Amino acid sequence: MEKKTILSGIQATGALTLGNYLGALNNWVEMQDQYDCYYMIADLHTLTIRNNPEALRENTLKLIALYVASGLDPEKNTIFIQSHIPAHTSLSWILNCYTYMGELNRMTQFKDKSAKHADNINSGLFTYPVLMAADILAYNADLVPVGDDQKQHLEITRDIAERFNSIYGETFKIPQVYIAKDGARIMGLQNPTAKMSKSAEDPMDKILLTDTPDDIRKKFKKAVTDSENCVRFDKENKPGVSNLMSIYGIIKNKTMEEVEKEFEGQGYGVFKTAVAETVIERLEPIQKKYNDLLENPEKLKQIYKKGDKKAKEKSDKILKEVCKKVGLVIEE
Ligand code: TYM
Repeated sequence: MEKKTILSGIQATGALTLGNYLGALNNWVEMQDQYDCYYMIADLHTLTIRNNPEALRENTLKLIALYVASGLDPEKNTIFIQSHIPAHTSLSWILNCYTYMGELNRMTQFKDKSAKHADNINSGLFTYPVLMAADILAYNADLVPVGDDQKQHLEITRDIAERFNSIYGETFKIPQVYIAKDGARIMGLQNPTAKMSKSAEDPMDKILLTDTPDDIRKKFKKAVTDSENCVRFDKENKPGVSNLMSIYGIIKNKTMEEVEKEFEGQGYGVFKTAVAETVIERLEPIQKKYNDLLENPEKLKQIYKKGDKKAKEKSDKILKEVCKKVGLVIEE
């Protein structure tokens, strides 16, 4: 039986957080054997904010290194750069014409990001979900593994695909969102009621995948908890402790009940140390591999060139079919 297709991506904006890892990358690694996986570096999406061009180029290569260092095997997965595949932007334009302003206006990320970048509310920020829909639909992906914050973007992708299909007949597969139960939303360490975000201003709020062991210990030690001093999972009343429990549980592959049992009768000091050491243990080999890969930019180039080729072949076919359906003259 043919393998189902997966597509996902991460924006190439600076260092990734533990949230990106546990919400996305870690799940991708688990899926690489059962699916035909396309994992892209979303560099075009980052243009909605003003980047330093050199830093963006560097971050793009670094992200490829991080994908591989996290366990994605470039032989099994198609790892590629979004901007290298023209089908994404071409399809995005076409899909823009099948997306309503009202739909885009409802996107919570658009509202959040425009509040954050009030001086630069560009139309790319507004049509961002359409490019994301194009990323997914250009591969006829069956499944899109993401964190909880991307759920709304997946819903609009499905709506656009269904709309297109209803006008032109079966063209796109309707993609399913895959959100792992645990780790769907890793929260900030200082503000556990908001998601851990790359762009958080307070460095103590986020664990970066490149943090040193000492940084990680310090950040977990200072993580906001509560005064109960009891390791108990209760997202509503104990968001800080529950978040730490999720992090620990995902890495150790333990349920919240098991984590509660393990730390029964022990205070937050012991628990926080255990969480920090678990994260360090997980990140250390990744960091080592990452640093080794960065020493070898030629290898990184080979990886994305191979991925680009396969991604282009697949997406070109789907784009051609779409062009034909909407009435564009195509070269056979
Ligand atoms: P981005 O770059 O913001 O985030 C990448 C992935 O990390 C997940 N994530 C989290 N998961 C759990 N807890 C958190 N605190 C946390 N923070 C981030 C995100 O849900 C995401 O899965 N628009 C996308 C990139 C993209 C894309 C796509 C994804 C572009 N095209 C097509 C899937 C399919 C984004 O900005 O993700």
